Amino acid sequence: MERNATIIFLMTPIIFATNNFNKISEVQSSIKNDSLIIKTLIEEGIDIDIPEPYFTLEENAREKAGVINKLTQKNCFAEDTGLFVESLNGAPGVKSARYAGEGRSDDKNISLLLQNLAGQNNRNAFFKTVICLIWKNETYLFEGICEGKINFEKKGNSGFGYDPVFIPTGSTKTFAEMTINEKNIFSHRKKALVKLIDFFDNQN
Ligand code: IMP
Repeated sequence: MERNATIIFLMTPIIFATNNFNKISEVQSSIKNDSLIIKTLIEEGIDIDIPEPYFTLEENAREKAGVINKLTQKNCFAEDTGLFVESLNGAPGVKSARYAGEGRSDDKNISLLLQNLAGQNNRNAFFKTVICLIWKNETYLFEGICEGKINFEKKGNSGFGYDPVFIPTGSTKTFAEMTINEKNIFSHRKKALVKLIDFFDNQN
């Protein structure tokens, strides 16, 4: 396909089904050199708390994208992310958002994580993101993984979620000590997003 034709195709807007502004910023910063136009739920006038009822990231991502696709009848994608810690048998995993309870508090989640890892030298962990794209009524999944370690204490003020305690392999900084562009060099979300962008580049 000619590059011009690809650009025209990518100009089609697509809804990112999330209420998380940090995720929107990361995605926007990743695709700014591509011509994929991301629409947020707010821009679409949608104000709902999208459920995450399942036990796998894949099912939750499908559910979130499915809810918004049904509501709008438009192309959209959603993502679900979890932090999987080796010495905690994969916890908090799919339940990362509610690890310390229904309040979805980042501070409480991190405190509980550090408490559960007290005295533990095996700090290996990974983030996994699954993106579910609903495009022309077909469903596609893309995933990205970032390996690293859980730090012994919080460091940095950027980012969100578990960023202050996660050091990706290849860095000495936590995600919260990085700019968005630095985080994107390592990030699970960026890796999944690159696959999504490749999908559009290969459409004909
Ligand atoms: P969800 O995908 O919004 O359900 O996120 C699950 C949990 O992981 C929440 O506590 C998020 O704050 C956290 N989380 C998701 N993505 C990231 C990330 O890139 N860095 C740190 N924490 C994250």
